[in-house]
Amino acid sequence: MLSSEAYPASVKAVGCLCFQRKNIAFVSMKPIFILNGPNLNLIGEREPEVYGAGTLAGIEEGLRQQAAAAGLEIDFRQTNHEGVLVDWIQEARCASSALILNAGAYTHTSIAVMDALRALSIPIAEVHLSNIFKRESFRHHSYVSPAATGMICGFGAQSYRLALAAMIEILESASAASNRGLHA
Ligand code: DQA
Repeated sequence: MLSSEAYPASVKAVGCLCFQRKNIAFVSMKPIFILNGPNLNLIGEREPEVYGAGTLAGIEEGLRQQAAAAGLEIDFRQTNHEGVLVDWIQEARCASSALILNAGAYTHTSIAVMDALRALSIPIAEVHLSNIFKRESFRHHSYVSPAATGMICGFGAQSYRLALAAMIEILESASAASNRGLHA
């Protein structure tokens, strides 16, 4: 279970007013942003043989419970608009402790998304429901991967759960390290 009283020292957002210092305690853990790009609102109806029968709302509910069990909150959103996705990624600089991103087709096209991600200093997980490397060659290139901590694809809804588990572990380790520093 994560302590909500110490913010991981490694989580810094230089250039905005929310940067953290090791000696600031009692700061609540910010939510993990889980952002979804275009057409992901249609999963469950759209190409179920590729993306599965589950809905985005179903995925969100499972992730909310998974995060709550670790004492964390998620902020789960979907947009069909590239600029909105860029705005949310920028918001994540100060408002989130980690980012999980399924950028949908913008994964393969958006330098703007990549540039926004490069401005973050929080852990970033790239996720895809489908195994993009088993699909058309235009899906093999990702503008998200160079800016991500890691990438999980091909496990359907489980891709999100695995990404959230990884982010929780990273934040727990950072929080424990920060607490050790505070009490040294
Ligand atoms: C996707 C894979 C992308 O190539 C595609 O454009 C999507 C969904 C996935 O989750 O498998 O919209 O990101």
